[in-house]
Amino acid sequence: MKIAIGSDHAAFDAKADLVSHLRGAGHEVSDLGTMTAERCDYPDFAWKVARAVADGAAERGILVCGTGLGMAMTANKLEGIRAAPCESAEAVEMTRGHNDANVLCLGARLLTTEQLRSFADLFLTTPFDGGRHAPRVAKIGLAGEGRDPATWTPEDATAPAR
Ligand code: RB5
Repeated sequence: MKIAIGSDHAAFDAKADLVSHLRGAGHEVSDLGTMTAERCDYPDFAWKVARAVADGAAERGILVCGTGLGMAMTANKLEGIRAAPCESAEAVEMTRGHNDANVLCLGARLLTTEQLRSFADLFLTTPFDGGRHAPRVAKIGLAGEGRDPATWTPEDATAPAR
């Protein structure tokens, strides 16, 4: 799978480990920085990765900072992005199955190397459940357009997925 990955300084080593882990598993990983351990601002890298996913250059994005939280807050500002900060395997599975999350946000200061690797693997292998979850995901897109999700109609289901 084509993956865009990014981190800030707090997760620089964790990102390097994830890049080699994911490449080893056969994924095409585009490392969008940061490229040094020098202090930097996480929104700069959240933007790059979210942009790559929103534009279709990458199928999924992975963002790592100290907590995963600032990355998610930034990435979710972009249209079409559903970024989920996850601290458990259950949350990763649920956010793929129910929310069709396209960006996973992880906290290098909260999770072990093993957890970071296994959560990334789970994120890339768990399918979206569709069905009753599809209109709900469509409603997330509506909210992103400034529309009240409660105004969703079945015609919205035929609009291109975001
Ligand atoms: C950096 O100190 C830290 O604030 C950042 O990595 C992240 O946790 C923000 O959400």
